[in-house]
Parts: sequence; C-alpha cells; structure tokens
Amino acid sequence: MNKALWGGRFKESMSEQVADFNQSIEVDARLFYQDIKGSIAHVTMLEKTYIITSDEANQIINGLQGIIADYEAGNVTFKKELEDIHLNIEKLLIEKIGPVGGKMHTARSRNDQVATDMHLYAKEMTEAIITSIKALQHVIIDLSKQYHTVIMPGYTHLQRAQPILFSHHIMTYFWMLERDKARFSEGLKRINISPLGSGALAGTTFPIDQQYTASLLEFDDVYANSIDAVSDRDYVLDIMHNINLLMMHLSRFSEEIILWCSEEFKFVTLSDAYTTGSSIMPQKKNPDMAELIRGKSGTVAGNYMGLLMTIKGLPLAYNKDLQEDKKGFFDSIDTALQSVQIFTGMVDTMEVNAAHLSNITQNDFSNATELADYLVTLGIPFRDAHEITGQLVLYAIDNNILLKDIPLDHYQGVNKDITNDIYTKLDPEHAVNRRLSDNGTSTKSVLNQIAKAEQYM
Ligand code: ARG
Repeated sequence: MNKALWGGRFKESMSEQVADFNQSIEVDARLFYQDIKGSIAHVTMLEKTYIITSDEANQIINGLQGIIADYEAGNVTFKKELEDIHLNIEKLLIEKIGPVGGKMHTARSRNDQVATDMHLYAKEMTEAIITSIKALQHVIIDLSKQYHTVIMPGYTHLQRAQPILFSHHIMTYFWMLERDKARFSEGLKRINISPLGSGALAGTTFPIDQQYTASLLEFDDVYANSIDAVSDRDYVLDIMHNINLLMMHLSRFSEEIILWCSEEFKFVTLSDAYTTGSSIMPQKKNPDMAELIRGKSGTVAGNYMGLLMTIKGLPLAYNKDLQEDKKGFFDSIDTALQSVQIFTGMVDTMEVNAAHLSNITQNDFSNATELADYLVTLGIPFRDAHEITGQLVLYAIDNNILLKDIPLDHYQGVNKDITNDIYTKLDPEHAVNRRLSDNGTSTKSVLNQIAKAEQYM
C-alpha cells in the first residue's frame, strides 16, 4: 500500500478494510472540478501574496489543468487508498510536476478545502435546480393557457366540491414552485460565502488574502469565523430542506396525475414515453414516473434527517462525521434535478381529456353551493339556505335526478320567490365565472393570474 500523504507520524499503515472504510473517493469524486477550481484560486493567491513564486504557481496551475485534460481523456483513475478527491488530485499533481506540487497545500487544510468545494458545488447545483424549476413553470403556464376554458370538479376531502377551471387547479403548482424557486435563490446568499483560508480550524500564519480568493471564486464574502467556516453544514441542510419541499410539491402533483390517469378518473392520458407496461397484465399502462417521484420525495426527506442527526451532536470544529455530508446530499440533488426534468416532460406530453372533464360537473352535485348562494340572495340566512339545499340534494339523490332536473314548482314549493333563473345559476360555467374575486376561479381572474405568473418568468 502507498504511504498516505499524511503518513509522517505513523509506523503502521491501515488495513485494507480500515482504508476502505475511511475513504470517500467513491462519493466525493464528483467534486473534481470544484476541487481544482478552488486549488487554482488558492495557488493564484499564494503567488500574489509572495508565499510561492510565480514560477511555482505556474507549474502548479498548468499541472492542474493537465489533470483536467487527462481526466477528460479518460486517463485518470482515482485510488481508494488515497482516501478522497483532495488527496487524489494532490498526488496526481505531484506525480505530474514533481515535489513543487507539494507547495499547493501551503496555508490550507483539507477542512477548508472540502468546505470550499462543497460551497462551489452547492452554488452550481442550486442554480441548476432553479433553472429546471423555471422550465417546469413554463410548461404549466402553457398548459393553463391551452386549456383555459376547461372546467373540472374541484375537490376537498377528495369529494367533489365546486366546479373550477382546470387552469386554476394546475396554476396552484406554479405558485408552489415559485416559492420553491424563491427559497433556493434566498439560500444562495448563505452559500455564497468563502471558507477558504480558514485552515484546519484556526486560520493560518501565512499572509494570505482571503478576500482575493473569495473574489476569484465569485463568493460575495468570507466567513467571519474560521471555526464556523469548517464546522457547519447548515447550508447543505438548507438546500436539502428546500429539496424536500420541492419534492413534496411534485409528489402531490404526481399523486393527482396518478389518480387522473386511472380508468376511474380519466382526466388525462400520459404519453407512452412516460409510462411502463406490466410483465403479466397486457392491458396495463402504469404511471411509473409519477410514482417514482412520489416515492423519492420520501427518500430525500430521509437524506435530510440523516444529515441533521449526524451533525447535531458534533463538538467544534471538524470531525470526520462530516464526511457523511455528501452521499445523501448528492442523492437529493440528483433526485431533485431528475425529478423536475422528468416531471416537466411528463406534463408537457400529457393529454388533457377536456370534453370528459368539462362534462363531469354537468352531472354531479358540485353546483349545490350555487343553490344555497341563490337562496341567500332571496333574503334567506345562509345557515337556513344550507339546510334547505341539503334537503333538495337528498331529494334529488332519492329520485335519481340532479338539481337541474328538479321542476320549478318543486323549487317554488320550498320558496315561492325562486324563479326560472335558478337553472342558469346551477350551470357549472356560470358558477365558475361568477367567482370573480381576485384569486378566484373565474376565467377573468384566472387569465389575470396567468398574466401575473408570466411576470415572474
Ligand atoms: N474527505 C474529507 C471530508 O469529506 C475531507 C476532509 C478531511 N479532513 C480531515 N481532517 N481528515 O470531510
């Protein structure tokens, strides 16, 4: 086994099992680009502050760029015995340019190095998630515009409640996603702080320039406390929490799509490209993508809880427990990005069964509130109007008819002031378009809502 880069004070080396347990390269290899970017900024600063010479800095930077080229040509294999991405790259550098490569780690520790890599990665991924959410929002807006005349039953308790516009229903998810996006953006200001130069925990004796490395890496500021900079992973939890909420929203939308594409609902038809068949039942077309997204919303919540529990009892400053911050975090990031992208394609290609949807509310009791509201306009207190309407619904159910089928003389037997216009009031389209409150379901309000949404895009 190779001697470890930190091996000076050790007489014995680790067993293979211990080395395997200790390593994180299988997980943190994905920080390759961030690690080199951080190192180039660090070395550029070491040169500027005369801690190393220009010649040394150039050799190191060229060496690091050469490692990127080797990596992209498929000529780099990371070694488990070199523990993590940081030590692997440092070893590759020393192999490539000789002992001068050993100067790269001057005035730095793996503790501020890994924190820097993670901040850079967190920033990039947050931006990628925001971009993917935006694409999904576009698809939702397009769908809302395309089907803005379609009426569907709105539900509470999964029981038909009142007729609403299909667009009103799905625009709900636009606003949920808008808040998700805002949460990710807001988190950026806490991510965008540089831990570089904090050293192992206490800072460094070298005359480094931390503001300079921060500006090279496009961070807005430097952590005020070196111990804080290397110890906390709250920004990771922040992102994971934001992912939990995003996935929770996608999971609710998925659940609706799963119901909607069932034989029982038939509200939408998913494209073949986003469904799977059954190995035994030839007729099946299953909404697996939506189910997986619903399922994975649980997995990411578990990832979050796992890291929270890992960190909660740690004394300051760095502890190796913190190496456990990556697996679940990376999984949550991958899950969020894939889920949003797949969800976007699924919704974009889904067909809305508009005629069927609009017909449903013609044949149910989701217009009962209209009748009660109508009775109120005749001067009847709402509570009594509710009771009377309830009895009329019961009467209709018993006679296997709908409210619109109850003859006028029967209505007038209940209240003599009821006139023929009751039948207009019972019409779902009429019911929808009378809900003119700013955020209500009328066509006018919903078109305004969509216009407002477009301003956020
Ligand atoms: N692989 C380590 C991690 O991810 C890097 C930091 C190691 N620091 C140390 N003092 N052993 O946390």
